[in-house]
Amino acid sequence: MKFIIKYVLVLAITLVCDGLVDIEKYLKICDRNSEDVNDCLLEAAQEGLAVLANGIQDLDVPSIDPYNQKDLRIEYKNNQIYAKFTAKNIYVEGLKESTVHDARLRADEDRFHLELDLTTPKINVRGQYAGEGRYNSLQIQANGEFITNMTDLVYTWKLDGVPEKTENGTFVRITDFYMRPDVGDMKSTLTNENPDSKELTELGNRFTNQNWRLLYRELLPYVQTNWNKIGSRVANKIFLKVPYDQLFPAKY
Ligand SMILES: *[C@@H]1O[C@H](CO)[C@@H](O)[C@H](O)[C@H]1NC(C)=O
Ligand SMILES: *[C@@H]1O[C@H](CO)[C@@H](O)[C@H](O)[C@H]1NC(C)=O
Repeated sequence: MKFIIKYVLVLAITLVCDGLVDIEKYLKICDRNSEDVNDCLLEAAQEGLAVLANGIQDLDVPSIDPYNQKDLRIEYKNNQIYAKFTAKNIYVEGLKESTVHDARLRADEDRFHLELDLTTPKINVRGQYAGEGRYNSLQIQANGEFITNMTDLVYTWKLDGVPEKTENGTFVRITDFYMRPDVGDMKSTLTNENPDSKELTELGNRFTNQNWRLLYRELLPYVQTNWNKIGSRVANKIFLKVPYDQLFPAKY
């Protein structure tokens, strides 16, 4: 009888604990009220990038290097210019080679704000695309594959969140993810399978590469909306599953 009770107890405890995630297995945890929390977070973020590169299966966190995005749609209008760009099977590679230079946390009972300064030597983005461009009555359609290489990226990740009380404890919901990378150089190659515009492919590539700074600046707001969604979603896979006091304990 004693044996059975003990057995049932062990089983019950195992079941209960299975529902929780031992986050320290994956990420270095920093006390949010400690004096050196920013130094601790710098290290935690640097190690965290290597872990997140492969994802965390227990938490359903996708691998972020390479990061796979199913599709992306961008519709651009500016005076007489109209462009529509749809990409699919997108792979983004290179994030794990990033260096974290600084971390700044402001976190208390009411709000959460984390900034991480990063540099990345090289990001490679590739996928399939279909594009349509109109300039007054001129219209061009193209589709094929694209590769973009960006080098020497300098940026800051800014995460904003609010602590939410639930029946299971308090969790921070990340409401906003922001970054605006400065890019050292960008080189793209697009193939074009469309017979009607095939002879313009070379010209298009040259135009894209010669004017990448302008194109990047114009497209940045659209891409940022995309990053905001992805960044918040990936962060919340962790933040909404691990209670605030486990992820950023306040012992002191
Ligand atoms: C609390 O945890 C239980 C069990 O893991 C889950 O089913 C429920 O949805 C959670 N509640 C909230 C508000 O997240
Ligand atoms: C991008 O980088 C890859 C891998 O380093 C290389 O094979 C490819 O030629 C580069 N593409 C462009 C457009 O620079």
